[in-house]
Amino acid sequence: MSQALFENTLNVMRKKVEDKLEQLLPNAEGPEGRLFQAMRYAVFAGGKRFRPFLACESAKLFDVQPDAALRVAAAIECIHTYSLVHDDLPCMDDDDLRRGLPTVHRKFDEATAVLAGDALLTIAFEILADPDTHQDPYIRNELTRRLALAVGGHGMVGGQMIDLLSEGTDVEIGGIIRMQQLKTGALIAYACEAGAVMGHASTEALHALHAYAHDMGLAFQIADDLLDQEGDVETLGKTPGKDANVGKATFVAIMGVEKARNQARMLADQAIQHLDLFDEKADLLREAARFVINRRH
Ligand code: IPE
Ligand code: IPE
Ligand code: MG
Ligand code: MG
Ligand code: MG
Repeated sequence: MSQALFENTLNVMRKKVEDKLEQLLPNAEGPEGRLFQAMRYAVFAGGKRFRPFLACESAKLFDVQPDAALRVAAAIECIHTYSLVHDDLPCMDDDDLRRGLPTVHRKFDEATAVLAGDALLTIAFEILADPDTHQDPYIRNELTRRLALAVGGHGMVGGQMIDLLSEGTDVEIGGIIRMQQLKTGALIAYACEAGAVMGHASTEALHALHAYAHDMGLAFQIADDLLDQEGDVETLGKTPGKDANVGKATFVAIMGVEKARNQARMLADQAIQHLDLFDEKADLLREAARFVINRRH
């Protein structure tokens, strides 16, 4: 499969996920209308929708009903968008540009950005717990429990804490790997596992997807760090050069651009090998690992 075909498929999936988000996100008038405007502003600003893509493609391996997979994909994108809104706040990375537009706290205000993030986080759990997502309450519970683990203190939020504490300090490679696994890898792993959970996959298949996501999640964050170093603002839609300015602990910072790029390539190859268990139905996931390291934004 070519990268062009992959990107085409990603675009088709993006449209479906955006339609689902359109249906699921509140649009009410009234005094709280500003909150919904801010949530929608953040979600519909753009974005690759890469995690929703992973969720839908993993679900296909186990013949999960596509609409159910799309609901989970939309929930994941809500969580991801919340993480970006909060990541950009002045008390965190203090960024003015996201997905090519002013960040939510710039467009609205800080309190609205905090609340829009809170509401995007919460709605994700509402979507997962809804019987429309899966008829089996055990599966709904499992989807919910695993998401909570992936994005809470032992996952994404914990990783974000380490990221902030590491600014300007010397962190060894093991520490950076752990931080990146938590702040970025955990949600990517959830996206890959959710389809397996919905489709009653075997433990072996679940483990294979987890291993794939583990390596790809690290590659994804290394690519993000490389883009921060080398990308341009128009293509990226966010301000490059920030990591070095504030002394973020990244692969690029400690091993330099070339070694970091090799590391990302190695991780993407390794990720693909973990899919050996699956037939050509997993080809898009294989291509996704290549996309992660070749992407320009
Ligand atoms: C950016 O994620 C934040 C990281 C975890 C590295 P993406 O690169 O997926 O951002 P969007 O969703 O396409 O804007
Ligand atoms: C963000 O990492 C990770 C999360 C939002 C959980 P970064 O801070 O590197 O992401 P960007 O570069 O701002 O998108
Ligand atoms: Mg950050
Ligand atoms: Mg940031
Ligand atoms: Mg970054």
